Amino acid sequence: MTWQWKTIIEPFKIKSVEPLGFTVRDERLKVLEQASYNLFKIPASKVLIDLLTDSGTSAMSAEQWAGIMRGDESYAGARSFFVFEKAVQDVTGYKEVIPTHQGRAAERILFSIVGGKGKCIIANSHFDTTRANAEATGAQALDLPIKEALDFEKPGLFKGDMDVLALERNLKEKGQSVSMVIMTVTNNSLGGQPVSMKNMKEVSNICKKYKIPFFIDAARFAENAYFIKLYEKGFENKTPKEIAKEMFSHADGCLMSAKKDALVNIGGFLAMNNTEWAKRAREIEILGEGFPTYGGLAGRDLEAIAQGLKEVLDEEYLNYRLKSVAYLGEGLRKHGVPIVEPPGGHAVYVNAKKFLPSIPVEKLPAQALACALYLEGGIRASEIGSLMFGKHDEKGKFIPASMELVRLAIPRRVYTQSHIDFVIEVFGEVAKKKDLIQGLRILEAPEYLGHFTAKLAPVS
Ligand code: F0G
Repeated sequence: MTWQWKTIIEPFKIKSVEPLGFTVRDERLKVLEQASYNLFKIPASKVLIDLLTDSGTSAMSAEQWAGIMRGDESYAGARSFFVFEKAVQDVTGYKEVIPTHQGRAAERILFSIVGGKGKCIIANSHFDTTRANAEATGAQALDLPIKEALDFEKPGLFKGDMDVLALERNLKEKGQSVSMVIMTVTNNSLGGQPVSMKNMKEVSNICKKYKIPFFIDAARFAENAYFIKLYEKGFENKTPKEIAKEMFSHADGCLMSAKKDALVNIGGFLAMNNTEWAKRAREIEILGEGFPTYGGLAGRDLEAIAQGLKEVLDEEYLNYRLKSVAYLGEGLRKHGVPIVEPPGGHAVYVNAKKFLPSIPVEKLPAQALACALYLEGGIRASEIGSLMFGKHDEKGKFIPASMELVRLAIPRRVYTQSHIDFVIEVFGEVAKKKDLIQGLRILEAPEYLGHFTAKLAPVS
């Protein structure tokens, strides 16, 4: 059914609700100070609308909750594992299915096999944990997005694509030191932009030519499939499931954080056809995650993932999902807020560098904007900028990231259109007062994934 109405309706009704965290401005200022201006340290009870992440924040369906009750908690060979394995095989087509407690565990296991000193892993863009896990093995994590992806103002249909010329050049130069190519769908680090089937096919062919394994980081595979249906010629009449299957058919395997497009609160997996790698992955898994038929999860979680993988490919749901994110983007544009164009599948990304030109990148404009948003309306968003990706050189000098973005990630099936209208209204207020926003400086941060725990303070 195609939805011809202007009003976006959520394609579900609500059975169970939880209260929002209402606070007043003075209280929020204290909360911010106590959290050292790090939004990860704010108690969720003090957040009104939580757009920190779309990860693990989905509302589950009645059928998923029914699956929770059906869960078989046998240590080995649980019935729920086979339900899960079949659901993953049904979408991906890969034989070997290895559950993990979340996406980064799948990354750690995979990179223990293909990473290491002297190796290079190439992606359209690595997400922060993917990069950190690759680098933690001593490998280099190289991003090769298309140039258009870095031009945030310019709309384009498949800005998640990989630069195939740069890929071929790197494979020629680096040879077998490139141990894997990964396509992140959608490209979370650069605006949640989709990857076209054409690009997936081209990358696959290049990888075959150079005999390099090609994997998909499938966290948001269903949203990517729906973008292909909407915008890529030849896919108009295919179902999201057919498109997803075709995407996976171009790669040798995938890793997935089920906390996104499997519509669950915890879980992940590795899936592949290479039985030798799968054997090694299971050995590593037993050390850290658990027996390979539960992999750090409970049987009930496996049931919920299996059901979520089916529900996420529903066309009514995907249409609502992409339209509601685009609606937020449209509302922000009306207030003159510069966003990464076009809005992504799971989030709208605000270009803080452009929105706050008077705050230099060393003073973390994206984090400053995220804090201002919380102070104004109790909305929590995440920074994708120099706090997340900034580095220190050998002399200890801070090298800022190339982008300063604030991501407004929309949890799946959680907020309604009026919540989104509220976010747009708050942004309007922030835009009016933007000259009062102060920059920030880092007081302390650990070497890896420092943004989760860093302490910051305002600078005038
Ligand atoms: N890959 C991508 C593309 C991701 O976005 C994430 C997580 C991961 C891997 C890691 O998965 O969290 O289950 O361990 N992204 C979250 C986010 C954290 O907010 O975008 P995980």
